[in-house]
Amino acid sequence: MPLQEKKILICVSGGIAAYKINILVRQLIKQGAEIQILMTPAAQHFVSKLTLSTLSKRPVFSDFYSENDTWNNHVELALWADAILMAPCTANTLAKMMHGQCDNLVIATYLSAKCPVFIAPAMDLDMYQHPSTQQNLALAEDFGHIVIPAETGELASGLSGQGRMAEPETIIDIFCQYFESSKKKSLTGKKVLITAGPTYEAIDPVRFIGNHSSGKMGFALAKAAAERGAEVILVSGPTSELINHQNIRVCPVISAKDMYEEVFKHYDQADMVIASAAVADYAPKEIAVQKIKKNDDSLTIELVKNPDILKTMGAQKKKQFLIGFALETNDEEEHALQKLQKKNLDMIVLNSLRDEGAGFKKDTNKIKILTQSGAREFSLKHKQEVARDILDFAEEQLLK
Ligand code: PMT
Repeated sequence: MPLQEKKILICVSGGIAAYKINILVRQLIKQGAEIQILMTPAAQHFVSKLTLSTLSKRPVFSDFYSENDTWNNHVELALWADAILMAPCTANTLAKMMHGQCDNLVIATYLSAKCPVFIAPAMDLDMYQHPSTQQNLALAEDFGHIVIPAETGELASGLSGQGRMAEPETIIDIFCQYFESSKKKSLTGKKVLITAGPTYEAIDPVRFIGNHSSGKMGFALAKAAAERGAEVILVSGPTSELINHQNIRVCPVISAKDMYEEVFKHYDQADMVIASAAVADYAPKEIAVQKIKKNDDSLTIELVKNPDILKTMGAQKKKQFLIGFALETNDEEEHALQKLQKKNLDMIVLNSLRDEGAGFKKDTNKIKILTQSGAREFSLKHKQEVARDILDFAEEQLLK
């Protein structure tokens, strides 16, 4: 079954199309999915909790608290899901999602989510065409969400036009395609070494030099490689990202030197390396033993160059397929190509801080992949999808 064990969180908001959710839930369950339903307060006027909890075989939540005064933990709900579906998504819920107006459990859960988000809007035709709705839908795509456009036909108002929620069959097809493409087991038996996050270079016991990397890109790559059957070693600098997969071993490090040492414990066995970490190029020459006091008007810290982990891997390359990253702010392609050559890489993933929604901390990224023989550009996507694009491209190169 294409959706076997896939955990789908469906957030229902208050529109007449909510009646279609009963059918959607039944069909998703038939495809093997596990369903958890949340409702906005308004949704309960259109479809009953009893029907949806009976069909989904789970309690349906609509409030921050349950009747027995227990907390409906929106973070846990969000982390549980492999995908979130906002359906039907009214103009009001869409606007709240896009602008972080967190006044109900659905929005709190959406804002806590790390998984892909699918949006099936449903509303009257003029509401759908209104510039604010269209802007919010465009913004949703910029956030990397997958918008399932409303269909054209007869609407509850009696008018006819675009605004009907996509039919359950269409939504299920989209899910099946999405999960099918993420189900490839093409890396079974392969060892993939990934660096992620920032490095922190200590100045004294309380201060460090660091950068804005959150680890999201590297963790998404680890998840995507593990889902394809690879055995993944994830060497990560300080991050709040969490991952729990039987194929992934996380090796936490702090500084560039720590990362260098950890990476070379695993490098010889690796078939593929993906260096997504933002490694500090320099570190303080001396680390003060005590906290530095602010006695003077200025402070000079002498920095020394850190080892270039990826360049060393390139110099020692045997069987490994080496993938580097380049985060640039200007003359992007030129700099990325220089890194590809200098570090003896097989491909380099370029992301630019000039692209809206790309780079540090965001859930999305916009990349261009460069090799010695060409380049391919990708649109702005959720980092989990970007990770799949990178692996698809690498696998294509390996087959050449
Ligand atoms: O973690 P996120 O918030 O999700 O952000 C993701 C990201 C922006 C950090 C990521 O997409 C990215 O671009 N990572 C590389 C950032 C970077 O520092 O690039 P660079 O151009 O400085 O380095 C080039 C390559 O050499 C990188 O693969 C880097 O990991 C590697 N390198 C750099 C210096 C060094 N001393 N050792 C290295 O291995």
